[in-house]
Amino acid sequence: MEMVKVSVVALILSVLSVQTVEGKDFPPCNFRSVYNFGDSNSDTGGGSAAFYPAGPPSGETFFGRPAGRGSDGRLIIDFIAEHLGLPHLSPYLDSIGTSYRHGANFAVGGSTIRPQNESMSLNGVSPFSLNIQFIQYNQFKARTSYLYNQAKKNYYRKHLPRTQDFSQALYVIDIGQNDMAAGFRLKNDSEFQASMPDIVEQLAEAVQNLYDQGARIFWIHNTGPIGCLPVTLHYHLKPDELDKQGCLKSQNDFAVEFNRQLKDRVIKLRTELPDAALTYVDMYAAKYELIGKAKQQGFVDAAEICCGFHEDDIHVYCGNKMQLNGTEIYAGSCEDPSKYISWDGVHYTEAANHWIANHIINGSFSDPPLPITHACHKPSLE
Ligand SMILES: *[C@@H]1O[C@H](CO)[C@@H](O)[C@H](O)[C@H]1NC(C)=O
Ligand SMILES: *[C@@H]1O[C@H](CO)[C@@H](O)[C@H](O)[C@H]1NC(C)=O
Ligand SMILES: *[C@@H]1O[C@H](CO)[C@@H](O)[C@H](O)[C@H]1NC(C)=O
Ligand SMILES: *[C@@H]1O[C@H](CO)[C@@H](O)[C@H](O)[C@H]1NC(C)=O
Repeated sequence: MEMVKVSVVALILSVLSVQTVEGKDFPPCNFRSVYNFGDSNSDTGGGSAAFYPAGPPSGETFFGRPAGRGSDGRLIIDFIAEHLGLPHLSPYLDSIGTSYRHGANFAVGGSTIRPQNESMSLNGVSPFSLNIQFIQYNQFKARTSYLYNQAKKNYYRKHLPRTQDFSQALYVIDIGQNDMAAGFRLKNDSEFQASMPDIVEQLAEAVQNLYDQGARIFWIHNTGPIGCLPVTLHYHLKPDELDKQGCLKSQNDFAVEFNRQLKDRVIKLRTELPDAALTYVDMYAAKYELIGKAKQQGFVDAAEICCGFHEDDIHVYCGNKMQLNGTEIYAGSCEDPSKYISWDGVHYTEAANHWIANHIINGSFSDPPLPITHACHKPSLE
């Protein structure tokens, strides 16, 4: 129904407007809720609730305490929620102090698109792969809808999503980085290359499954330049392995190839899911631009890590301690995290997340290039 109305409005506009009709000419979508699926890049406390809580100094910049995030402060998904006028998303796995009125977050650090066979303790791989996150969403939707309809008083409903909001919510997906990491760890190049279509297909299946459950509006981040993560760069790389930005080229090439296939698949999904509005967001380009412009944007070199001790062959990760020749090394945070892009060698600082969020929110890295506030509109009139 909503789509029909939009098309009528769009038709009128296309007649009246001299320029090509852009989504910005449409009214904003007024999202009342956001559902997010992903890994540590958008985990707002799921991993901390399920496993070990994130320790200090994480959270120090914005929350003043560890807040379940792999950063000194807010993540891109937090800035997205704020931009839409919504509260930060409560993790589905968290049973303390949560409210799901405006959506839920199924992201857990270490999660992959494809279920992994590795032991978690070895490589931090999460059992909450995307298919499991979808099953959790299903359960969430069924049970909250039941409770919502049962509750006689508004008081009992206030932390539950309104049943009618599910189909108008924004569904954000940001996952794939750990599939890249697993590929590098477990497969040779040709095996990894051969597995790529299946990884992409499983992401597409998750979108299809959500669609079958009534989701219509998708905002899909591609995977970032994993070869630029400073933690990788501290492992003795030769100059000819690096690209112009000083990132590990072979790893970035895989991320670029994944993204190419993902974008093709999202375009194909637009014909398979006719009532869906699917936005593909080039997170890779946004992050890569920031890394390339680090100095110009007021940051220190992008390879510098704010929190963590990495020298020679000694690696002490953010917040950890190590005895070294009788001296204790504590990997605390840098003096001014707002000058750094990398928080802990893997995750971005709040300052970097803010920069990236500001640059993707207005649609300048999106296909179609609509601001996130307008992501419910389909570019069918070009
Ligand atoms: C895990 O193992 C199963 C069964 O051997 C296999 O089908 C699946 O492809 C494996 N998953 C990955 C990500 O390698
Ligand atoms: C990659 O692994 C596969 C399967 O183990 C093997 O057949 C192939 O020869 C390997 N390729 C290279 C380039 O090492
Ligand atoms: C620790 O001690 C060993 C042996 O005495 C020495 O080779 C090494 O350089 C020392 N490491 C540091 C970081 O001081
Ligand atoms: C989007 O926002 C960024 C950051 O403020 C700005 O540099 C860019 O020009 C904007 N793009 C568009 C299309 O508005």
